[in-house]
Amino acid sequence: MTDLFLTGIGQLTTNTGPPVEDAVLVVDSGIIVFAGPADDAPEQLGRTRVDCGGNAVLPGFVDSHTHLVFAGDRSAEFARRLAGASYEEIAKEGGGILSTVAATRSASEDELFEHSSARARRMLTTGTTTIEIKSGYGLDVETETRLLRVARRLGDELPLTVKTTFLGAHSVPPEFANDRAGYVEHLIEEMLPRVAPLADYCDVFVEEGIFSVGEARRIFAAAATFGLSARVHAEQLSHAGGAALAADIGAVSADHLDQATAEDARALAAAGVVAVLAPGASYTLRSRQAPAAMLAEAGCTLALATDCNPGTSYYEAMGPIITLAVVEMGLDVGQAIRAATLGGATALGLEDRGWLGAGARADLIVLDAPNAAHIPYRPASNLVRQTYVAGTPVS
Ligand code: NIG
Ligand code: FE
Repeated sequence: MTDLFLTGIGQLTTNTGPPVEDAVLVVDSGIIVFAGPADDAPEQLGRTRVDCGGNAVLPGFVDSHTHLVFAGDRSAEFARRLAGASYEEIAKEGGGILSTVAATRSASEDELFEHSSARARRMLTTGTTTIEIKSGYGLDVETETRLLRVARRLGDELPLTVKTTFLGAHSVPPEFANDRAGYVEHLIEEMLPRVAPLADYCDVFVEEGIFSVGEARRIFAAAATFGLSARVHAEQLSHAGGAALAADIGAVSADHLDQATAEDARALAAAGVVAVLAPGASYTLRSRQAPAAMLAEAGCTLALATDCNPGTSYYEAMGPIITLAVVEMGLDVGQAIRAATLGGATALGLEDRGWLGAGARADLIVLDAPNAAHIPYRPASNLVRQTYVAGTPVS
């Protein structure tokens, strides 16, 4: 059903202007041909007509930062942190990212697909229609390529659009424990050429004690020769210079930014780097949230993402992320919804989605609520009644 006539829309979020009350939306071959006031709509005979019953319609969520493909269980680590252990302490003992690396290395490609497709299906039913997926739990050629193949297969077999990112520089694997420089060399010389055909982007976790700005610069320069543009895990736990680097090299996005300064915000805005914020991670770690208002006021485009991963942010749905963005970060509802849709699409360079108007892809959600504010207002309910991808109902 790629031609569609949605009527009785109580509130339509278009992201091209203010929300429209009493709206309709017309889809032809998966593309929107009209979205606006019912009174202005052309006559629609012969299309599949769906009455939204006064409920709200908005663009599908674009989750521009996830670590969706992994194996293992870190619930015990979560409990330890609640009892007072820090993320860094657990990581130093070989837990954290490296415990997921061990579990992921020993999981088969089919096991990884099975677990991550279950997560991806839950994302679809909670309104996410496009996701970015990072590798980074393999840290060797074999497992990193396996993760990226699984990510691509998710996009092939599910109705989600998937963009992939190589994050070999997520941590130093145990076999290079005393040789970080050796791992960076290996990543550039051996891993990049093998993973590049499976990746759209390259990411580096720039953090005190993880990877430095200098190392990241070398990795991004090498990745660029394979056509991979940069996204940066920047200023999450410490202020290590990732945001300034992202601005300097013209990265597509700088992600997390919990410790970002006013100077970082100005540099990111001037360079057109999208600020991808992950409030689920800061909430789970009980650490400081990114200065979202400051970034917005500086002129940055904001995106909101789940950062779905087993360590710091096991969020699959975007609804609760929007709640955190308004309650914990202080964004207003309109800013948060926009960041979770159009902002995410901008962070992934996808111009055909994240907005609803003539020419956009009909990736959209119908809520069980009259307006989009119900999403942050009622965080514990999945208010998505129906997800549509290119005009087809998928949930
Ligand atoms: O985005 N910051 C680095 N990576 C993840 C955490 C990964 C993990 O703990 O497994 C994040 O928060
Ligand atoms: Fe992350």
